[in-house]
This record gives sequence, structure tokens and C-alpha cells, in this order.
Amino acid sequence: MSYRSIAIDGPAGAGKSTLARRLAKELGYLYVDTGAIYRTVTLAVLRAGADPAEEKDVVPLLEGLDIRMAYNDAGEQRMYLSGEDVSEAIREHMVSGAASKVSAIPAVRTFLLDFQRRQARENNVVMDGRDIGTVVLPGADMKIFLTAAPEARARRRLLELEQRGQRADYDAILRDIRERDHQDESRSVAPLKRAGDADLFDTTQLNLEQSLAGLLSLVKEKIGP
Ligand code: DC
Repeated sequence: MSYRSIAIDGPAGAGKSTLARRLAKELGYLYVDTGAIYRTVTLAVLRAGADPAEEKDVVPLLEGLDIRMAYNDAGEQRMYLSGEDVSEAIREHMVSGAASKVSAIPAVRTFLLDFQRRQARENNVVMDGRDIGTVVLPGADMKIFLTAAPEARARRRLLELEQRGQRADYDAILRDIRERDHQDESRSVAPLKRAGDADLFDTTQLNLEQSLAGLLSLVKEKIGP
């Protein structure tokens, strides 16, 4: 039996993970958040006291890494590092910044390639990341490049932090977003870019429900009900 795959790529804060998760639920597919996998490697690098930007410090750590991904009863993806559930720890601000550096190291990407592909060999998946349509699943049944203006992404992030009761500054968030975009787009290995055969989907003017409805109709058009 062959499985269906939908690849969703795009910059941080375009609503990718929320939309990919909701889309997967609507379709009954497994949602694979590949950013969480990179974040888990990054957490291991930080905990080892290594410099996330130094290839020669990071590469020797890969061999001994014990990373696992599992789904709980609610269908949520959980990440484990050496048996410890690190699903919350990988969301910390320090990990976000360092993940951009760790994910630019070619050996890290090669190391994670099969890990990601295996999920799509064994399940119908909606997989999101930066290079899913271009590198990880070039033969995906459908590819979506999801984006939004940096200012819209910064506003959404600010709201999210405020709702969690955290203090945040719009200008600092916008600066952070622009910096991460630049790092993700300019790296030499698997840079963030739209695959030639990906549908562009811009959520700047759309709320979550409108975006989901738009994505669902795209999916119906491309791969049927
Ligand atoms: O989507 P995110 O913010 O959780 O991703 C964390 C980091 O990992 C981000 O800097 C981009 C990187 N990443 C990547 O290089 N390739 C992917 N497929 C997914 C994430």
C-alpha cells in the first residue's frame, strides 16, 4: 500500500504548524512537525555545552543521540531525548535561536533525512518544515509553500506570547523573525525556498479558519476528497 503525503514549507510564524496540524486532523493523516526534530537535536547540543554554530563540535554528538518521536493518546507528537519527554523544553527561546544554527550544518540535515522520510513511508502524512517539498519528500502528492508578511507574523507571535501571560516587545519579535528568515534562506544546504511545483499560500490577510478552508479546498482540487 502506498501512502499519501502533503509537504508544507514556509518561514517561522506563517501559521504552518497550527494549520498543518488542523489539516492532518481533517484528513485523518499523521502530522509530522520536523522543526520539533531539529529542536530536539539542538537541545542535545546545548545540554552538551557545545557551540550550536560550530560544526566540529556538533557533528561528533550526532552518533550518540537517542531521539524518538511518539504520539500520545490525544494524537499529539511528543519528542524524547534519551528517554526524557522534551516536548516543552524544545520550545524555549534559547532553543529557537540555536536551532537555526544547528539546522544549517549539513551533517545534521543528512542525519535527520531518513528519520523524516521513514514517517512518510509508513503513514499518510502532513509534514511541515523548511525543505520538505524540495529535499525530504520531493515526490509528495501535494506541496504548499505557506507564507505571510513578517509584520503579520510578528503581530501573531506577540498575541500568542501575551495570551500566555508573557511580556513581549513587537520590534524585538519582528527583528528576530527577520533574522531567522535570513538565516534559513541564506544557508547553503537546503535553504528555505519554494519548490517549483509548490502552491503558494499567503495567510497575511486570513485568519486561521479562512486559511484552513483555503488549504482544504486546494487539497480537494489536487488530490481529491
Ligand atoms: O519550525 P521551527 O521554528 O520549529 O523550526 C526550528 C528550526 O529548525 C528553524 O530554525 C528551522 C529549522 N528547520 C529546518 O531547517 N528544516 C526543517 N525541515 C524544519 C525546521
